[in-house]
Amino acid sequence: MRRQLVIGNWKMNTSIDEAINLIVDLKEGLNDESTVVCVPYTHIGVVQEIVDDRIAVGAQNLCQFDNGAYTGEISSTMLQSLGVEFVIVGHSERRAYFGETDSMVNTKVQQALKKDIIPVICCGEQLETRKEGSFLPFIENQIREALKNLSKAMVANCVIAYEPVWAIGTGETASAEQAQEVHRFIRGIIENLYDKSTADHMTIVYGGSVKAENAADLFKEEDVDGALVGGASLKANDFLSIIKAL
Ligand code: 13P
Repeated sequence: MRRQLVIGNWKMNTSIDEAINLIVDLKEGLNDESTVVCVPYTHIGVVQEIVDDRIAVGAQNLCQFDNGAYTGEISSTMLQSLGVEFVIVGHSERRAYFGETDSMVNTKVQQALKKDIIPVICCGEQLETRKEGSFLPFIENQIREALKNLSKAMVANCVIAYEPVWAIGTGETASAEQAQEVHRFIRGIIENLYDKSTADHMTIVYGGSVKAENAADLFKEEDVDGALVGGASLKANDFLSIIKAL
């Protein structure tokens, strides 16, 4: 279902106390808007205790395996048993620092869907690829690999996040036109792989230095359905401004 979504990705930030304060401030500032916060694994239980139905709680990763001797990993079954609704899959930081491959991303997407957790599938090019002008085929390959063997019904329960790596944490944002170009292109890939209705219903959010100042411009674009927000999701007022710009 195509919906408007602002998702916070807290990454490896906040103590438990800071997390609680952040949620309290968010609740205070929200009217009838809703949002998703993808918090560190260690904070999921505590955050779930204090959110209300305007704030859904997500995780930032999951293991590609079902269960067993995988020290330090967290399975989709564990996330499901906590009632986690969303999980970020294939973030560029996981691809860059933890060796996550397209094939692992595909397996993780399937693990999430098996447990009724919505995967927020990340794609996005490095600066060199953008400069070379080959970013569209690069993104097409990431999307095709991530969605491999997924049925139409499965893909209907996915969210895609376009996060150009050069815009993450750099203060540099893709312009609204650059975001729209890629989002439109991704919708076209979904249409080719599935059909027009599936493409029209796909939620595609943008990530990469989204701030209060640029959110409204990005959200005006036809194919930008919301944002995946890193740094600005750690400050309640900044995150609230982005949510309210949607
Ligand atoms: P920033 O908003 O800090 O650039 O991070 C974006 C991101 O990686 C969200 O997943």
